[in-house]
Amino acid sequence: MSSSRRPLIAGNWKMNGLRRAGEEFAAMIAGSAGVAAAADLLICPPATLLAAFAAQAQGSPIALGAQDCHAAECGAHTGDLSAEMLADAGARFVIVGHSERRADHGESDATVRAKAEAAWRAGLIAIVCVGETRAQREAGEALAVVAGQVRGSVPEGASAETLVVAYEPVWAIGTGLVPTVGDVEAMHAEIRRVLGERLGGGADAVRILYGGSVKPDNAVELLGASDVDGALVGGASLKAVDFLAIAGAVR
Ligand code: PGA
Repeated sequence: MSSSRRPLIAGNWKMNGLRRAGEEFAAMIAGSAGVAAAADLLICPPATLLAAFAAQAQGSPIALGAQDCHAAECGAHTGDLSAEMLADAGARFVIVGHSERRADHGESDATVRAKAEAAWRAGLIAIVCVGETRAQREAGEALAVVAGQVRGSVPEGASAETLVVAYEPVWAIGTGLVPTVGDVEAMHAEIRRVLGERLGGGADAVRILYGGSVKPDNAVELLGASDVDGALVGGASLKAVDFLAIAGAVR
């Protein structure tokens, strides 16, 4: 891990969390001081909890993010939320192009790219997710598929101040399976190389997170891999003790 890139440990709560989850979030805040020296901390709760969590987190090291945004600023898009609304509710980051969005909502690279641009317009940092399916990995296409997703999903003008990339192999999400450290390192190096085509030397400062079944017991190994600048954590981010243990694995 380059010393110029401060690790980011991000929790993606997905469609989990009622208002009473504020108690678990309070426990995260209470335990965050000890781990925040080594890493930036981020929780992306469902949008219904954003404003309350943002108020709760004030003055703490935990930043808030959203899990998706619409590409437009406002308008006739029933049920959608704009990046401006999410920023207004207290988000500083927004995840775009998570594989569950790509699969459940048919989001293309072009859609993801438009959402990342919308995030920037609202002053949010976009966490652009990429990752291959099991079939693509077994066919030996993982590097090429992910390189194509990066080229298609990351807008022009990206920088370390506006962009985080998350590599999340689809087959590792929620399954307990993780790639080998060698495969993670090869993929992160490829992502950084492709970012360099677009950003030149600026690509060195962009944080690339690993996501997919990150747990306290594999965090040291995964976070210690070269070019891994943090983690995007799903299931294990719902419990303060697990999330903080993962953040504590940053060296
Ligand atoms: P998981 O999810 O940690 O539950 O595998 C990761 C993600 O989808 O961001």
